[in-house]
Formats: sequence, structure tokens, C-alpha cells
Amino acid sequence: MALSPSFKSVVLAKRPKDHIEADTFRVEESPTPAAGSLKDGEVLFQSNYLSLDPAMRGWLNDTRSYIPPVKIGAVMRGNGVGTIVASKSSKFRTGETASAMCGWSEIAVLKEDLVDKLDLPINGTMTDSLADEVHQQFGILNVGRVKAGDFVVVSGAAGATGSVVGQIAKLKGATVLGITGSDDKCKWLVNELGFDNALNYKDKSFAKNFRAATKQLIDVFFDNVGGEVLDLALARAKEHSTFVMCGGISQYVE
Ligand SMILES: NC(=O)c1ccc[n+]([C@@H]2O[C@H](COP(=O)([O-])OP(=O)(O)OC[C@H]3O[C@@H](n4cnc5c(N)ncnc54)[C@H](OP(=O)(O)O)[C@@H]3O)[C@@H](O)[C@H]2O)c1
Repeated sequence: MALSPSFKSVVLAKRPKDHIEADTFRVEESPTPAAGSLKDGEVLFQSNYLSLDPAMRGWLNDTRSYIPPVKIGAVMRGNGVGTIVASKSSKFRTGETASAMCGWSEIAVLKEDLVDKLDLPINGTMTDSLADEVHQQFGILNVGRVKAGDFVVVSGAAGATGSVVGQIAKLKGATVLGITGSDDKCKWLVNELGFDNALNYKDKSFAKNFRAATKQLIDVFFDNVGGEVLDLALARAKEHSTFVMCGGISQYVE
């Protein structure tokens, strides 16, 4: 597989105070490593798709968190799916499809234990594997312990996480209400994903609508958003309900 002699990476240039600015990142070009330079157990990974996730904003802050901040001058951390273009690992062959924390880079030299082989199902595509199914399934099944008959409310419901969580809850026999930010997304949740109901949190009457839609009280709240939506849900919690705190995207930038 012929590679171009150089590749591009996106590195963190400056910590943003608030929103990401034009000077937060810069693009760097580096020579493509030769296959012969790989050490035992390493692969040369070419990314085809990179994941862009809300949690990444937190990784740019120089504060204590569940994961160290990205260093200034380092390639931006991130997951990607791509192709093994050279291998000195017994686990991977050239041409195989894989997923890895490769960073925002066209090419990366990676240790084999940081790479997962992707066995795509028939009609599956590489991008299907970018969905964060581990967190979604663990959150709603292991933490939320959703069961038939539960009333489940999902915030951030039209996002990558919430949309899958709501569908898993439906498969388990729950009644599912999704909270999202537009009427079109509400329609998508109900008409295409099979949610029982959906509310637009940007609607002027949202608080009133939320109280009306949660009269039966909540068994499982799957939170991606925090803030006011979480406050409203807490006031509607059933005794012994479970609140799954997956994310708090409304609080990531003040
Ligand atoms: N704990 C974990 O291991 C883990 C793993 C993955 C993700 N997460 C968290 O899960 C959440 C969702 O991640 P994702 O990958 O599914 O995100 P995503 O697909 O990028 O969706 C994010 C959505 O959140 C909504 N949103 C943005 N700002 C908001 C605000 N201020 N208030 C309410 N909603 C807002 C937007 O949709 P609307 O149109 O609805 O506003 C946006 O499209 C994030 O909080 C993320 O950090 C946690």
C-alpha cells in the first residue's frame, strides 16, 4: 500500500479559555515512518475516520479529571477507525481494519495492545464502529439496570450516546421519553427510532411540558446534559429510581 511521504496531525497549540478558537489547534506535517522502522509489537495505522466527542473539550483544560489533559504541542487525543498499513505484530496483518486511540493524525505508530481489530458485520461500515457502544450499553444495562415496564428519560437523546441508549431501553420493554434541542430531532426520535415521546428543551413551555410528560415519575434517568434538565428530572424521580450520570454537556463551557 503506497503511502504519501508525509502526513498531517492536529496538535494542541493553546488551551482555550472558553470556546475553541482558530488558534487552539495547529496542523503539523511529519515524514511518514518507514515500515522497516517499526519495533516488535508495533503497527503503522492509517486513520480513515476520527471521532469528535464532547468529552474532548474537558481534555483541553489543565485540571484534575478522570484522564490527564492533552499537553500543549501534543497530538490531540481521540479515537479513530482505520487500516493497518504495516505490521510488526503477530496480532495484525497489513490491510486489516482496526479501531485505536490514534489521535487526530493521518498516520500513527501504535503498540498492538492499543489497537482493536474490527470484524465488521455484513453491510456494516467502518463508521458504525465509531459509536460509543461500550459506554451506552454499560450505562443503561449495568448502571441503569433497565427492565420491562420502566419509565426511562434520556437527555441529549438525539446524540450518539442518547439515541442508542433510548433504543436499548425500548428493546428491553421500557417506555422512553427523549429530551433534545429541536422539533425535527423530536420527530426523528419518535418516528424513526421508536421513542414513545420526545420534548424540545428549547421550547418556552419545556418545564411545563416536562412535568406533564413525567406524571408517572421516572424509574431511570440517563443524563448526558446536567444543569436545568437534570434539576427538573430530580424533581420527578420515583422512589428508588436510578440516575445514570453519563455526561453534563450543558456545563462543559461556562
Ligand atoms: N461517561 C462516559 O464514559 C461517556 C462516554 C461518551 C459520552 N459521554 C458523555 O455523553 C454526552 C453525549 O455525548 P455524545 O458523544 O452522545 O454527544 P453528541 O453525539 O456529540 O451529541 C451532543 C448533543 O448534546 C446536545 N447539547 C449540546 N449542548 C447542550 C446543552 N447546553 N444543553 C443540552 N444539550 C446540549 C446537542 O443536541 P441538542 O440538539 O439535543 O441540544 C448535541 O448534538 C456528553 O456529555 C459526553 O461527555 C460520556
